Amino acid sequence: MRKEIVNIGFLGFGTVGSGAVRILQENNVEISSRLSPRLKVKTICSPNIAKRDTSWVRDEVKYTTDPNVVLNDPEIDIVVEAIGGREPALSYINQAFEQNKNVVTANKLLLAQEGINLAKLAASKKLSLAIEASVAGGIPILNAIREGIAAEKIVSLYGILNGTTNFILTEMEKSGAAFDITLAQAQRLGYAEADPTLDIEGLDARDKLAILSMFCFGRYTSLEEIPTQGITQLTPIDFVYANQARCTIKLLCMAKIVDNDLLLSVAPTMVPHNSLLAKVNGSFNAIMITGASGGQTFYYGRGAGSGPTGIAVVSDIIRIARELTNGHTSLSSTFSFQNLEKSNVTELSQPYSFSVRFTVNNHLGVVAKLASILSENNINIHSISQDKLLTDKTNLSFVTMLEPTTPQQLHKALEEIKKLDFLIQTPLAMRIEENI
Ligand code: HSE
Repeated sequence: MRKEIVNIGFLGFGTVGSGAVRILQENNVEISSRLSPRLKVKTICSPNIAKRDTSWVRDEVKYTTDPNVVLNDPEIDIVVEAIGGREPALSYINQAFEQNKNVVTANKLLLAQEGINLAKLAASKKLSLAIEASVAGGIPILNAIREGIAAEKIVSLYGILNGTTNFILTEMEKSGAAFDITLAQAQRLGYAEADPTLDIEGLDARDKLAILSMFCFGRYTSLEEIPTQGITQLTPIDFVYANQARCTIKLLCMAKIVDNDLLLSVAPTMVPHNSLLAKVNGSFNAIMITGASGGQTFYYGRGAGSGPTGIAVVSDIIRIARELTNGHTSLSSTFSFQNLEKSNVTELSQPYSFSVRFTVNNHLGVVAKLASILSENNINIHSISQDKLLTDKTNLSFVTMLEPTTPQQLHKALEEIKKLDFLIQTPLAMRIEENI
């Protein structure tokens, strides 16, 4: 029997939830010309719904603070979980599946931690768990990997997956302002949250990378195993030195298979100016995938915000509504692969060129001492550079470009260097990604 109306219940009415309701309303003509059943927002649940402006919502919607009004309503076909965080979102999603409802969510943390169990539960009940909005907001990257390049053997993925940090890095490079000042500016403009920890420490990007590695390789891992470095150590001089090396700095996510091992990393990285990824500025996200047969594909767009994330959520709703009208069931596995394999994360062990910024209380012999430790560890110095405008000898930052060395060798040398008394900051080492 064809469905005339697909009823949707929202749990959460913040950026994601209200964005999706707005898209359903504003793009109603486009949506209904692509889909036969009518999409109806039946219920919106939010703990502080009384404080939200809902005057613009045209549908006759039931508002509630009680999630059970959504979860126990037999007429609701699709639940949009737009609360975020682990609990109570996890319990609500489980409850929705128990009540035979399809679920759309943007909750990357939950999916990175519990996605496999949730996907199994959904599949066992022939329901959909739709997650496009969880990674890179408005870029339909999960759909692209799951459907567009489903036949591909993926070799590597590089991504800029966090808009907040990309905005901060772009502004620091442009204005030469310090990290703290730029973060405060990002907060004022609404690009960074009041508590920016998840973004600036790289954890938000890490969770998205974990989801992408399931889609690309059918592998999953515990989040704690993914080497993750944020951007808080960066200073404006790092961009001056990066520029001298014809590079910019991005919080780069990497996923690849090396000798059948899963290699994952989130770290500030030197990206050559001539890479497409170097041109991704402000709050934009981008993903570059290399396939063994089809070669490179590149995806670019807004990674956050009400409009882009709303489009991702509503596009998932449309897909489920199509499945519902065609007598169901989900056309492909949530994470693209039928079975996901647990994998350890291996460390980057091939030689890479590195840039290392040392900040020192300068005196005679500083460079000689650093160079001798590097050479004792078989590390060749390519060049040393000091910006001529830096005049404070008690707080002097200079950069050393190193010839290819393994991260392990470099780590060992830096552990020795960190003990030197003239060092006034931990050295900042960044990988130079020459071939992206
Ligand atoms: N805080 C994220 C970002 C958006 O800055 O990209 C939500 O994932």
